[in-house]
Amino acid sequence: MGYFITFEGIEGCGKTTQIKLFTELLQSLGYRVVTTREPGGCPISDKIRAILLDAGNRDMYPLTELFLYAAARAQHVAEVIRPALESGCVVLCDRFTDATIAYQSFGRGIERATIDSLTTLACQSLLPDLTILIDCDAEIGLQRARQRIEATAGPREERFELEALEFHRRVRDGYLSLAQQEPGRFVTVDGNTAISELSAAIADQALRRLKDGARAIC
Ligand code: TMP
Repeated sequence: MGYFITFEGIEGCGKTTQIKLFTELLQSLGYRVVTTREPGGCPISDKIRAILLDAGNRDMYPLTELFLYAAARAQHVAEVIRPALESGCVVLCDRFTDATIAYQSFGRGIERATIDSLTTLACQSLLPDLTILIDCDAEIGLQRARQRIEATAGPREERFELEALEFHRRVRDGYLSLAQQEPGRFVTVDGNTAISELSAAIADQALRRLKDGARAIC
């Protein structure tokens, strides 16, 4: 088995940049790396992503949203993540099950037990070995995310960015409480620090765990 690392955090926390830098670092060290994201990561799940993030779908009910995330995840785990882990790769995933707890439970108010059972089913009990939480103030993150959307051509994936600041604050609190509940799996880093400082902190923590895990084949 390989090693499964997920990256989490609110909108605009800097995950995408950090995942790119960490992927490059691992590759330079000789690791076989699969970098992917949720929702999405394979053609069927990318189609579900488009529905989920389309700002025109503001009438979507919370349960519909939850089922779509679970459906996208079931396909992604079976088609991409599990095969990559079985072949000994390090898998880096931009968001995973903790995002569902943070957004759909803390954000939308769906009962945690409902989410947990659906998630277990969707990923056939697969859990991350390590989760990097990039913590960031909700106001700052949202501002960065909106700037990025304005500068991006193509479909505006902004259904969540249009949510009130209070929603994003609940999501952040949700992530922080998850990290507190599982200190063995989570590493929390400060998303307000400079990009290079943050990438060094992530590399330091993650490489140590990866070596201890000693399961990923170089
Ligand atoms: P991204 O912009 O980081 O790619 O994430 C897409 C959006 O989907 C983001 O606003 C968080 C949200 N999301 C959930 O609400 N639940 C989930 O389970 C996942 C994976 C993402």
